[in-house]
Amino acid sequence: MTRKPMIAANWKMHKTIKEAKAFMAEFLPKVAGMKHTDILICPPFPLIAAVNDSREGTDILLGAQNMYFEEKGAFTGEVAPAMLKELGCDCVILGHSERRWVFGETNELINKKVKSALEHDLIPVLCVGEKLEEREAEQTDQVLLHQLEKALEGVEESYIANIIIAYEPVWAIGTGKNATAEDAEKAISLIREYIHSKYGTDSSDKIRILYGGSVKPANIGEYMKLETVDGALVGGASLEPASFAALMEF
Ligand code: 13P
Repeated sequence: MTRKPMIAANWKMHKTIKEAKAFMAEFLPKVAGMKHTDILICPPFPLIAAVNDSREGTDILLGAQNMYFEEKGAFTGEVAPAMLKELGCDCVILGHSERRWVFGETNELINKKVKSALEHDLIPVLCVGEKLEEREAEQTDQVLLHQLEKALEGVEESYIANIIIAYEPVWAIGTGKNATAEDAEKAISLIREYIHSKYGTDSSDKIRILYGGSVKPANIGEYMKLETVDGALVGGASLEPASFAALMEF
C-alpha cells in the first residue's frame, strides 16, 4: 500500500494578509511541479481567503486550524464548517494540543468537531499526543489510545480512511526537542494498529498519519524514511518559504 505523503503547515497565530501573500509568491515557484507529496497550508482564519486566491491553479491544499461543530447560531467568536468550505478549505486541524491545553478543549468537543467536519466534506487533521509527564509516567500508549477512541467515537467506518491523524507529542511542540524517529515510529505504529483492530485493513492501509513537533529541514528525512510515517505537520519551520519548501526534499 502506498500512501501519498503530506507535508502540512500550521501557521498558528502568525502572519498578516500581506505577509501571507508574500509567502505564497515566494513559496509557489519553489514547489512548482512537485507531485511526490501533498502540501497543505493552514493559515489563521483571516488569511484563508488570501491564501486561497494565491494557490489558484496549484495543487496546494488549504486548511483551517479549528472550527466549531454547530451549523450556525449564537456562538460568539466561533467559525462554522460551511464558512470554511465556502472559503475553499479542504481540511481542518482539530484537537491540536494548543486547543486542548491552552483553550481547554475536551475529547468530547473534539469528537463533535470531527463528526461535523466530515459531514461538511472537510478532512479532519486530528491531532493526538501525550504531555511530558504522561510520557515520563509511561502512559503514552494509554493517552494516545484514549484520545483516538474518544475523538473517533461514532464516526462512520467509511470515513476513517480519509481522516488524517497527526501524532504530536506535546513536549516536542515549539520546543526544538523533536521526538526521535524511534519514538515517532512507535507511536504511529500504535495508532495504525488501533485503526486496524477497530476498522480493518483497508482503513489502516489508507489512513495517513503524520508526525509533528519541531520538524525542520535537518530532521525531516529521519521521519520520512519510516514506512509508517506519512508526512509532517509543521509549525515554526513552515513560516519561511525557503524552509517550508526545503521540507519537501525528503
Ligand atoms: P513546531 O513545528 O513549531 O514544533 O509546531 C508543531 C505543531 O504544533 C504543528 O501543529
